[in-house]
Amino acid sequence: MNAWTGDPIPTADLHGRTPLERQGALVLQNKQCRNCHSIGGAGGMRGPALDSVASHMTEGQIIRQVLQGGGNMPAYGNALNPAETTALVHFLLTLRGGNLAPAIDASQTLVGTGAVPPSRPTPARH
Ligand code: HEC
Repeated sequence: MNAWTGDPIPTADLHGRTPLERQGALVLQNKQCRNCHSIGGAGGMRGPALDSVASHMTEGQIIRQVLQGGGNMPAYGNALNPAETTALVHFLLTLRGGNLAPAIDASQTLVGTGAVPPSRPTPARH
């Protein structure tokens, strides 16, 4: 066991997190994502640091990267069950480098900002 694979998730990244998000931190730890990814300055360097991943990747983009891999990252689609994937992604979505704004998918309409009208009409009441 390499010392650096066991680097704990920084306490600050667990503070105020929901049980699901904490579960995701454990998945990140157990699946050894940190062999290649650092958080809080500790961990592998083959992949990008994940400290602010959610400020530049949306939920969908994170899910795709984890399940399909790509760019020298192995695919984890077969290594994670749906519950693990959900927890892991929820945790990753909390990593916004000390509260940067969450990433927005520019291909989605900016519903609710007033910039564009809602894409779906309000369902009719019966
Ligand atoms: C063998 C090394 C390796 C392992 C293990 C690994 N990754 Fe990666 N990961 C990479 C590399 C390399 C990239 C960059 C891919 C690219 O540039 O397209 C990456 C990219 C990512 C990204 C996108 C980050 C960004 O800022 O663009 C996320 C999120 C991610 N990995 C999550 C995970 C998770 C979660 C795990 C564990 C389930 C994991 N990785 C395991 C190597 C790895």
